[in-house]
Amino acid sequence: MDGYTPGEQPGIGERVVKLNTNENPFPPSPMVLRAIKEVEPEMLRRYPNPNADVFRTAAAKVLGITPDMIIAGNGSDDILTIATRTFLSPGDLLAYPDPTYSLYSVLARLQDAKVAEVSWERDYSLPIDGFLAAKPQAIYIANPNAPTGTFVSPLKIAELAKAFKGLVLVDEAYVDFADDSCLALVKQHENLVISRTFSKAYSLAGLRIGYGIAQPKVIAEMMKVKDSYNVDAIAMCAAAAAIQDQEYAREKWEQIKNERERVTSELTQLGWDVLPSRANFILAGAPDGRGREAYLGLKAQGILVRYFDRPGLTDKIRITIGQSQENNALLGGIRRISATEKAA
Ligand SMILES: Cc1ncc(COP(=O)(O)O)c(C=O)c1O
Repeated sequence: MDGYTPGEQPGIGERVVKLNTNENPFPPSPMVLRAIKEVEPEMLRRYPNPNADVFRTAAAKVLGITPDMIIAGNGSDDILTIATRTFLSPGDLLAYPDPTYSLYSVLARLQDAKVAEVSWERDYSLPIDGFLAAKPQAIYIANPNAPTGTFVSPLKIAELAKAFKGLVLVDEAYVDFADDSCLALVKQHENLVISRTFSKAYSLAGLRIGYGIAQPKVIAEMMKVKDSYNVDAIAMCAAAAAIQDQEYAREKWEQIKNERERVTSELTQLGWDVLPSRANFILAGAPDGRGREAYLGLKAQGILVRYFDRPGLTDKIRITIGQSQENNALLGGIRRISATEKAA
């Protein structure tokens, strides 16, 4: 089988404008750095608390839920792995909309499960009938979706969670850049699991921490499946500090959202076809339909974006929203590519 292919990571110190893996362009909150500095040697000598309770308590307070509704993981990919191992048996069927985060198919195959790729509706609304017709055991939905950045209303997800008896997993890796979430639905639907991460909204992709939210008896099942010490002592304290500093995080989200709208509007004026995004990235269709050439043309100028060599995406590139200077570099790079093409 093919494994998951992560985005390119340049060497530390290599000078590129890095807009290819949807990291947050701002540094983490100063409270995070303080929490890391306060880690005692004794905390490193001993095994960490197996359930990351300092983190669960802090997160539960901020989210207005109880700690037993939270499971912490080594990034949200770990939560997706735990959910797949908990709820899918060999031979089962996992459905997800297409295109979406390519890890889902890899996780299903690792579990010897089959996949049903259900096309999004034309307007990127949820293909509820398609999901139900596939008769899967579980449905995974990234909301906002990657790589499209599109968002479906939590009301539609509630409709699906009611009509479908299996697991509905909503991957909210990018939810803080949207205006709504499925958090309030968890108390009403015991088949709903949400996964979230500190990699995007909290600038902590290098720390590796994410979490799942579900009803306590669902979390209890997932706890049996996770590795005993899946979150390290530093990560749990740093993430607790990050989620407590909502003021810092929210200010950065607003800046990223404003930049997203600016880049969308400037690219549209340059003839690109940009999907309305509720994430910290945009999927942009090249005016000449040549996504790979745009990706390579930007790479030659030291600007990294993501290109997906798969049907339906070859005319597009996915661009992470950076700080304004990085976005200006991207727009300049794109203008240079079009100028070179016109001259040729
Ligand atoms: C939709 C989606 N879910 C989950 C993840 C994984 O995030 P983490 O860094 O928490 O493992 C990503 C990362 O790009 C993503 O795009």
